[in-house]
Amino acid sequence: MPFFDFIHDQREKLPLATSLVPSTVNIKDGTYIVTGANTGLGLECARHLVSLGAGRVILAVRSVSKGEAALADIRKTTARRTAGEVWELDLSSFASVDAFIARLNTLDRIDGLINNASVAMPNHTFAQGADVETSIFVNVVTTMLLTVRAVPKLQESAQKFNMTPHLVIVSSNAGIGNDMKGRVERCQGDVFAAVSKPEGFTAFSQYPTTKLLQIYAVRELASLLPVKQTGVVINHVNPGLCYTELDRNAGILGKLYMAIFRKLLARTAEEGSRTLLQAVWAGQESHGTYCSECRIRDEKIPEWIADENGHKTQRRVWEDLVKRLDKLDHGIDVAELLGSKTAEAK
Ligand SMILES: NC(=O)c1ccc[n+]([C@@H]2O[C@H](COP(=O)([O-])OP(=O)(O)OC[C@H]3O[C@@H](n4cnc5c(N)ncnc54)[C@H](OP(=O)(O)O)[C@@H]3O)[C@@H](O)[C@H]2O)c1
Repeated sequence: MPFFDFIHDQREKLPLATSLVPSTVNIKDGTYIVTGANTGLGLECARHLVSLGAGRVILAVRSVSKGEAALADIRKTTARRTAGEVWELDLSSFASVDAFIARLNTLDRIDGLINNASVAMPNHTFAQGADVETSIFVNVVTTMLLTVRAVPKLQESAQKFNMTPHLVIVSSNAGIGNDMKGRVERCQGDVFAAVSKPEGFTAFSQYPTTKLLQIYAVRELASLLPVKQTGVVINHVNPGLCYTELDRNAGILGKLYMAIFRKLLARTAEEGSRTLLQAVWAGQESHGTYCSECRIRDEKIPEWIADENGHKTQRRVWEDLVKRLDKLDHGIDVAELLGSKTAEAK
């Protein structure tokens, strides 16, 4: 994306949260889950949902104590003294994701699952028990696993309550920068093995790579699960540059770079969180698209992602993700999701 476009987008005044709830949505009946809700954009998004009167807001966090502190703060600032709940979710652990999904399946309904949690790693490490670099594992592998495994509950909610639930993945414009062009195409063999190699790892390029992989994966998943067949909208959203703790693991230079950049252009976390709300209530036409500045902005997706070659890469990323999950005993079968819906409808 040209730099001047980025500046222009950052300076755009975003609509207030209160104006983002569509008249067709009865938020009081709704159940919303926000991952990584103890801080940053996730916290502000959860705060808005509570403040707007959502029936049930689940803060999915890897540290329950941090989650409880965040919830106490939300309750204090919104004066909804009993609203919200904290559920444990550590995306670096399959066991935690499995337990979370089992709990999620006990819910009566889900109106929105906002997959917001992500990590930016300063150094190369492998996720425990997986041959995958940690940020690729957390931001892509388990984030997409959680997304796919939540689909049946959202499908069920759509049918039972005659509404349109949303699966939102918080991606980033960092994934669509021109410097990302060819990043996946250049990978030799399995994409997840290639991007997990310690050789060539830099903190500056790894985080955008995770965001690019998310974008390919979301676009492919949305094309495999058309909203007309599932009743579930899957989209992704760029919150823009915001004041958060995302650079907490960065070195001094990285922190300095981010501090200068933020001082000049960043939104507050509250402003950025409005983009997450827009995505969770966006219309069916947002399925598979990139939202940014509180609207669908799929025109921002560069040609090299949107063209035929980009589609091939998108399929390759998805196929390698499915193979990887299979190998790690966490196989997903997207065709089965359509099958079960068709069977139920008969
Ligand atoms: N801030 C920006 O400028 C910006 C720009 C574009 C996109 N984004 C995206 O916005 C989203 C939110 O980021 P943020 O800026 O709010 O960053 P943040 O302040 O660092 O928050 C990230 C959240 O993710 C959680 N998390 C990290 N690793 C996790 C794991 N293994 N399991 C479960 N949760 C985990 C963190 O929990 P802990 O506190 O326990 O670590 C935290 O709650 C991310 O997807 C990010 O990529 C941010």
